[in-house]
Amino acid sequence: MNKKVLLTATVLGATMALSSAAMAETVGVSMPTKDLQRWNQDGDNMQKELEAAGYTVDLQYASNDVQTQLSQVENMISQGDDVLVIAAIEGSSLGEALDMAKENDIPVIAYDRLLMDSDAVSYYATFDNYKVGTVQGQYIVDTLDLENADGPFNLEITAGDPGDNNAGFFYQGAMDVLQPYIDSGKLVVPSGQTAFEDCATPTWATETAQSRAENILSSNYSDGTNVDAWLCSNDSTALGVENALEANYKGTYPIVTGQDCDIENTKNMIAGKQSMSVFKDTRTLASQVVKMVGQIINGEDVDVNDTETYNNNVITVPSFLCEPVFADINNYKELLIDSGYYTADQLGISGEAATEGATE
Ligand code: BGC
Repeated sequence: MNKKVLLTATVLGATMALSSAAMAETVGVSMPTKDLQRWNQDGDNMQKELEAAGYTVDLQYASNDVQTQLSQVENMISQGDDVLVIAAIEGSSLGEALDMAKENDIPVIAYDRLLMDSDAVSYYATFDNYKVGTVQGQYIVDTLDLENADGPFNLEITAGDPGDNNAGFFYQGAMDVLQPYIDSGKLVVPSGQTAFEDCATPTWATETAQSRAENILSSNYSDGTNVDAWLCSNDSTALGVENALEANYKGTYPIVTGQDCDIENTKNMIAGKQSMSVFKDTRTLASQVVKMVGQIINGEDVDVNDTETYNNNVITVPSFLCEPVFADINNYKELLIDSGYYTADQLGISGEAATEGATE
């Protein structure tokens, strides 16, 4: 519905649900890239919900290019967008645009990834990133039964993008669970690569994760040694590791962790090539952000549930953390298909197979 239609409707007294303030506002939504499925879903969901709430939406994707994102955000500001929602490609690269937003009194919500090194960030909405990591680490501990088994088991680690503040939280959450077993010798990392810098994957690229995994496999596992678990911080990097395992590895297939429940990875989960993922329902995050936008525009208190964790080197940003959910072969139907997140077709399974046991 455009503004003119809304206005006419108001005159007729028919817009009980839509405030006149809402009609006037444009929300700029800046997403990192269309290459990764999750950001398309985030963008689509947010656009749908913001429009349903009566706002105009200025949605832009930046092709994973920092300069593009910078100029897109600057344009949003010069065009007079009223609130900005930004999922940064690189948390520290939008300083100039954020300064501009501040000068123009435009509130900024950091979406999913924290905007770093700036006092112009009003709020942060994300999932509990540290918890994502602990869920992945705990899955490895439970599945290898590290409390009771003697081991030693071989572990490799693939972490995320050093330019993304979330990556450190995912890594740290998982390592806080796994480190005691590495220290006691129940877990061994044959590549020796355990520090974040050694395990990181710039821009979360599947190809980069794959070539690093291929090197690790050929240097440490070509003699038939088994890798028992491969901690991957997210699905795009897990996909790279899974491709490398398929091409270069003859041992028993390892536990592989992930995050996002991307379609390719969910298919791999069904095929037994990925053990788990962490489901972060982009609809939940989008709804939370739409609520925050409304609260900001209406001058109400903004819902936050964490005022301590997310310091961006300048300020601690009031945050709302949504709950991540563990996903595997046993619950994916309920989480992903029954909830309407994906259709059975999208996951390459028949409707019947999808409903069988879905609510077990
Ligand atoms: C997000 C993850 C995503 C990764 C790569 C992170 O900031 O929190 O869900 O897998 O970026 O796009």
